[in-house]
Amino acid sequence: MAYQTITVEIEDYVALIRLNRPEALNALNSQLVGELAGALSEADRNDKVRCIVLTGSEKAFAAGADIKEMAGKTYVEAYTGDLFGADFDRITATRKPVIAAVSGYALGGGCELAMACDFIICADNAKFGQPEINLGVMAGIGGTQRLTRFVGKSKAMDMHLTGRFMDAAEAERSGLVSRVVPATKLVAEALAVAKKIAEKSQIALLAAKEAVNRAYETTLREGLLSERRSFQALFATEDQKEGMAAFLEKREPQFRDR
Ligand code: HXC
Repeated sequence: MAYQTITVEIEDYVALIRLNRPEALNALNSQLVGELAGALSEADRNDKVRCIVLTGSEKAFAAGADIKEMAGKTYVEAYTGDLFGADFDRITATRKPVIAAVSGYALGGGCELAMACDFIICADNAKFGQPEINLGVMAGIGGTQRLTRFVGKSKAMDMHLTGRFMDAAEAERSGLVSRVVPATKLVAEALAVAKKIAEKSQIALLAAKEAVNRAYETTLREGLLSERRSFQALFATEDQKEGMAAFLEKREPQFRDR
């Protein structure tokens, strides 16, 4: 599939998706969000993909939703067109692991997109923010909900109400990102992490991802029960037998997704 606003490369069972609107610091317009949703569903269906890395340029992961495209919209157009809603739901429905590799600006919808991935690795030059308040609006694709869960109410309120940016050190300290790496090594590091993930049993990966996400959706009791049942169900797989046998035999496991 040919895309105009993103590029997709697949190697060693990892899909590297790059946002590619350099003239607008990768601002998310409807075409980009639609193409990204399409590329992620394609990656989900592609047997040659076991993990996905989503990145931007060194200067910007994405500087937010495209202000030029949005500026003239009426309420009726935003509401009836469900501005970004449906395509964003398709993005978050991706079942395979998705790592956001963030360098430079991740602002507004860009920060929300990074948070919608499974985890964020960022470069030391990363800047996260929800500056929508400066435009007379607010976050609209998860920022008030996801940022609050990542960093807590106090910092989330601070970010949403003042529009200030958070640097990489603060993002790591606050739990927004899992690791900070030098900007020049970001994509290589993220790909190396993705390759490690791609070596695991896909059944266990999908189940673990679902179970962690459930922590956001349900009560502790229900989450623990669902985790326990998924853990027990994995004993029906050949990969569990292989993984444990390999450990006992002191060799590397050969998972076959069965
Ligand atoms: C459209 C954008 C853009 C955006 C940057 N550009 N951000 N175009 N939408 N969100 C364009 C600029 O207009 C400019 O184009 C080019 O990219 C380079 O940007 P500069 O501003 O010249 O770069 P710089 O001075 O380095 O400043 C970088 C920046 C600034 C701090 C990131 O661009 C900025 O503040 N951008 C807006 C950030 C923002 O408010 N994001 C939230 C958007 S609302 P030209 O043609 O002039 O060269 C949102 C809502 C989410 O995300 C909810 C959706 C439902």
